[in-house]
Amino acid sequence: MIRQRTYFTIVVISLSFSFASSSADAENFVQCLYNYPRTTTSISNVVYTKTNRSYSSKLDFSIHNLRFKSNTIPKPLVIVTPLEVSHIQATIICSQRHGMQIRTRSGGHDYEGVSYVSKHPFVVIDLINLRGIQVHVQKRTAWVQAGATVGELYHGISKKSKTLGFPAGVCPTVGTGGHISGGGYGFLMRKYGLAADNVIDAQIVDVKGKLLDRKAMGEDLFWAIRGGGGASFGVIVAWKVKLVPVPSTVTMFNVGRRLEENATEIIHKWQLVANKLDENLMIRINLRRVNSCQTRRLTVQADFESVYLGGVDQLLPLMQKSFPELGLVREDCTETSWVDSTRVRAGFRRDQSPDGLLNRTQLSVVSFFKGKSDYVRDPIPDVGLEGLWPLFFEDEAADAFVQFTPYGGRMYQISESEIPFPHRSGNIFQIQYGVYWHEQGKVASQKHMKWIRKVYKYMEPYVSKSPRAAYMNYRDLDIGMNNNDHTSYDQASIWGVKYFNNNFKRLATVKTKVDPQNFFTNEQSIPSLCKRRK
Ligand SMILES: Cc1cc2nc3c(=O)[nH]c(=O)nc-3n(C[C@H](O)[C@H](O)[C@H](O)COP(=O)(O)OP(=O)(O)OC[C@H]3O[C@@H](n4cnc5c(N)ncnc54)[C@H](O)[C@@H]3O)c2cc1C
Ligand SMILES: *[C@@H]1O[C@H](CO)[C@@H](O)[C@H](O)[C@H]1NC(C)=O
Ligand SMILES: *[C@@H]1O[C@H](CO)[C@@H](O)[C@H](O)[C@H]1NC(C)=O
Ligand SMILES: *[C@@H]1O[C@H](CO)[C@@H](O)[C@H](O)[C@H]1NC(C)=O
Repeated sequence: MIRQRTYFTIVVISLSFSFASSSADAENFVQCLYNYPRTTTSISNVVYTKTNRSYSSKLDFSIHNLRFKSNTIPKPLVIVTPLEVSHIQATIICSQRHGMQIRTRSGGHDYEGVSYVSKHPFVVIDLINLRGIQVHVQKRTAWVQAGATVGELYHGISKKSKTLGFPAGVCPTVGTGGHISGGGYGFLMRKYGLAADNVIDAQIVDVKGKLLDRKAMGEDLFWAIRGGGGASFGVIVAWKVKLVPVPSTVTMFNVGRRLEENATEIIHKWQLVANKLDENLMIRINLRRVNSCQTRRLTVQADFESVYLGGVDQLLPLMQKSFPELGLVREDCTETSWVDSTRVRAGFRRDQSPDGLLNRTQLSVVSFFKGKSDYVRDPIPDVGLEGLWPLFFEDEAADAFVQFTPYGGRMYQISESEIPFPHRSGNIFQIQYGVYWHEQGKVASQKHMKWIRKVYKYMEPYVSKSPRAAYMNYRDLDIGMNNNDHTSYDQASIWGVKYFNNNFKRLATVKTKVDPQNFFTNEQSIPSLCKRRK
């Protein structure tokens, strides 16, 4: 009895102590921010502690996955939404002084919530106010601040030119901070590569609070942040990107084929041609389950989604020659501008305002989500596909998808070590697995996570091996995580080589040089090769 009570008291004391110490840290931290000298606009307007009325709305605004929104999820002690670089510098300096970890958020789309969740006392730097875009049509370049979304970038480019574009992602609310630093691809990938392949300069604030451009940071760090993830190296403020030519007319189609319409055979053929097609043509496949009208039973539908850089008169003969099995006809096709194609691919109707691209609230209802990724190097045999279909008929797969995105074209011309993103020639296509659900609670969550892990296990024989490669921007903590407070290179290699293959070692070398004490750390940050201090 007595022993038990003693134990209880100790627990209470230590709990309240740790609570007190962390809130004291937050107070001193905020004071440190207020005292930071070189700011032109007052930082106090953009510092939110848990007592500020808009703290929750600031935090929740860019949470796109309900898995990381509940009250049981650890919250930042402070949120800073910088208006200028000095606010970032102040936050970096004061965080180190007062034992706070930093999580940087641009669009907030991280699949595992890494940009706004941490077990350690932490501050979120949310770049939502730093989203300026400057387009130079003559030079075919743009400076885009890291807090801007890709939708804002597309919109900004289209205001200045109808024949320039940028090869980044499909979802317009994705932030350029996370997206470009992790690679970033969309329907222009086969022609122009990744977003990160088209970066020509950048600004980053490092662990010492220094603002560095490409020249000042040096080629190693500039290499690392184009695909290695920004979060391990500092806070990226802006990118200078190369804009790419797009024709004034592009053609889109979206053709659905169900199992009873020979979907399996058509997918089989797609695997043989998708990476070899004309590089102006990208056809990806989105697989999901639907109700069959005729049989009233569940079936799988393969949507062949495409953007072609040219008119329908050029597209039809191309399809007839390379992929007649799809049976594409003129009526399936819509000619439009490139920027409109980005809106339609994002889910907007063509008659809706172009300004939809500026809306940072995502179009679909925010729900629970888990995603994973794979790379395919040899066509998946029909028996492999046929074994996948029944998994779509399970209860958990009501709102699930599997997406095949073809490589080839420009992706094969760039070497594996050009930037940290290593998935180039040899890969026919990338797979993304995703499952959404809407029911609250642990049970629903476990059920759906179990489903997607089962699908991933099922696919093992058909995808890349040693390492089983993965796309960093589809972050998946199942493939490995750093230890809580210190991670060895070997431990981090478990997930690191999956994302980066042979580039992982160089990333760790760069990390060791620019952030030896591993201040910028998270569940999947690049480890420093320095020995532990303690
Ligand atoms: C609906 C949806 C659609 C998607 N579509 C595509 C797609 O078509 N193509 C594609 O390639 N990917 C796609 N993605 C994945 C997306 O590219 C990644 O989730 C990306 O990391 C999101 O960037 P963010 O800035 O929105 O995320 P955040 O959650 O803000 O950040 C992601 C990571 O980057 C770090 N980070 C963010 N900003 C900075 C910064 N300024 N400096 C340093 N580190 C920073 C964060 O700390 C975190 O580790 C999609 C994701 C979703 C949810
Ligand atoms: C947060 O609250 C404090 C104390 O009330 C106030 O001084 C500060 O200006 C508030 N911050 C913002 C951004 O409103
Ligand atoms: C499916 O393929 C078979 C055999 O090749 C063919 O006879 C049939 O018409 C096709 N069905 C559809 C809906 O295309
Ligand atoms: C932005 O999108 C959301 C969700 O689709 C919508 O509710 C809202 O009205 C839009 N805001 C503006 C300003 O258009």
